[in-house]
Amino acid sequence: MIVPGGVETRGDWTEVWRANLVLRCATRILVRVAEFRAMHLAQLDKRAHKVEWNQILKPDQPVRVEASCRKSRIYHAGAAAQRIERAITDVLGAPLADDAAIVVKLRIEDDLAVISIDSSGESLHKRGHKEAVAKAPMRETMAAGFLQECGYRGAEPVFDPMCGSGTFVIEAAEIAAGLYPGRSRHFAFEDFASFKPDIWARMKADMPVHVPRFRFFGADRDSGAVRMSSANALRAGVADWCEFAQGAIADAVPPDGPPGLVMINPPYGARIGNKGPLYGLHANMGEVLRSRFKGWRVGIVTSEPSLARATGLPFREPGPIVAHGGLKVRLYQTGPL
Ligand SMILES: C[S@@+](CC[C@H](N)C(=O)[O-])C[C@H]1O[C@@H](n2cnc3c(N)ncnc32)[C@H](O)[C@@H]1O
Repeated sequence: MIVPGGVETRGDWTEVWRANLVLRCATRILVRVAEFRAMHLAQLDKRAHKVEWNQILKPDQPVRVEASCRKSRIYHAGAAAQRIERAITDVLGAPLADDAAIVVKLRIEDDLAVISIDSSGESLHKRGHKEAVAKAPMRETMAAGFLQECGYRGAEPVFDPMCGSGTFVIEAAEIAAGLYPGRSRHFAFEDFASFKPDIWARMKADMPVHVPRFRFFGADRDSGAVRMSSANALRAGVADWCEFAQGAIADAVPPDGPPGLVMINPPYGARIGNKGPLYGLHANMGEVLRSRFKGWRVGIVTSEPSLARATGLPFREPGPIVAHGGLKVRLYQTGPL
């Protein structure tokens, strides 16, 4: 079920592991462990002690609790968090630590208390491959979402002529190759009481990996970005299917082979540099794409509707607003040019 800020579903622990392993667009997977009405702190305290903490967490793993309260009789988040912390130490005996990797979240809204455990740990956009990042990198989860919104399913080439650290190109190659996004990283659930390493290892080994039928291309006028993208693709295990080259958008030509998807996250100006010269750059980008990329679809992610318009490309209605590093960006996409 879609809810504000997320999606709710039901499943056992193996489904939690699988969600972390395979979902490309989710930021984190929270596991709801208790939900009850709490009108005052004593009630919260009592119910928190009833949670079977020892079935969920381990006594030797440090834990931290984050709490928030909204429109509720319990309004002091610090006091509420402290009740959950006390329940965890009383029932389980796990140590509390401000820098603990395991996070228990308490949300109280309209007097309804929901206790969840973050099964992901580090945000899921951290696939565990990218060491080198360019200026203003796009989160992998967002890049995957925008590719999907453009109808990309892994069965066509993708070209990003302003590839930065290569996020779109690498995500596209991973999708085409059937690589699970979480194949290389550690997850918080690996330190939970419910974790079964053998089942997890089998789940990861079942990855439907295959050689993609198409290739994935990136270019950037900055040679450092090209080096970064190549290094990131190598670490992600997709270097054989990706090509990166130095070059300005003015000189971009379509790669050999059938048309596919051009995906671009151009500079916006609000974040890097000034907006003025960006209008010329966008006009030039539009001209290059219209004149040379016949049959390709185009997706542009930008915070500036006026910059998107400056390309002169025949965009459909822009996609929903997405928060990106303090900015609000949207996807502008065309059909085949
Ligand atoms: C917002 S960043 C792209 C970030 C990228 N999506 C990522 O995830 O790392 C914009 C990129 O456009 C490149 N760029 C700017 N002007 C360019 C031009 N005229 N031709 C080619 N690349 C250009 C910059 O070097 C920068 O890497």
